[in-house]
Amino acid sequence: EKCVVAVDGPSGSGKSTVSRRLASALDGVYLDTGAMYRAVTWAVLQAGVDLTDPDAITKIALETELSIGTDPLAPHFAANGTNVDAPIRGPEVTGAVSAVAAVPAVRKQLVALQQAIIAGHPRIVVEGRDIASVVAPTADLKVYLTASAAARAARRSAEDASDVAATEASLARRDKLDSSRAVDPLRVASDAIEVDTTGMGIDEVVAYLLKLLNS
Ligand code: CDP
Repeated sequence: EKCVVAVDGPSGSGKSTVSRRLASALDGVYLDTGAMYRAVTWAVLQAGVDLTDPDAITKIALETELSIGTDPLAPHFAANGTNVDAPIRGPEVTGAVSAVAAVPAVRKQLVALQQAIIAGHPRIVVEGRDIASVVAPTADLKVYLTASAAARAARRSAEDASDVAATEASLARRDKLDSSRAVDPLRVASDAIEVDTTGMGIDEVVAYLLKLLNS
C-alpha cells in the first residue's frame, strides 16, 4: 500500500543518509527537496540575477527545466540539461540557497512539483524542511531529525573535507535564515516524532524509523 515518510530537520542532522537508506529498505524512492532548491539556485547563479530581486529569481525558477532523480542509490539532478550533482553541493550554491528558498513563488512552484512526484510513487521517503508541515501533511510517518550543532558540523565536514569551525558557522547561518523566513520556516510539526541523532549511528536511526513505521 501507499507509504509516504516525511523527514525534516536542519543541516547535518543525518537526513539525507537516513532517508536514502530508509527508502532502499522500503524498496521505495527518495526525494531530496533540498537538492531541488539547490538546483534552482544553481540556475539563478548561472543567470547572474540579483539575489535580492524576488521577481528575477522567480522568473528563472519558472524557466528552469529540472530533472529530478529519485533512485535512493543514485539520485542524479540536472537543470536545463546540465548535470548539477557536483555544483549544487558547492559553496556558491550553499551560500545562496536560503535566499532563493525564501522566495514564496519559488516555494509554491517546487512544493507543487514535490506533491506531483509523491503522488506518482507508492512508496517514497521525502526529506526537507517543510515536508510534514506543508508538502505532505498526511504522511504515514513524520520525523524531525536533530543533532547537536557540534555533531552536525562534524558530520558535514567529514563528508566534504571542510574545516569544522567554518562549517559550524555556515550551518548556523543557514539554520537561522531557514528558521526565520516568512514562509514555511523550518520547524517541528506538532505531530512529528523528534529524534536526536547526536549519539546514534545511521543503522540505529534507520532501524528505529522502521520500527516506528511498523508499529
Ligand atoms: O545541506 P543541507 O542538508 O543542510 O540542506 P539541503 O537539505 O540540501 O537544503 C538546502 C537549503 O534549501 C536549505 O538550507 C533551505 O534553505 C532550503 N530548503 C527549503 O527551504 N525547503 C526544503 N524543503 C528543503 C530545503
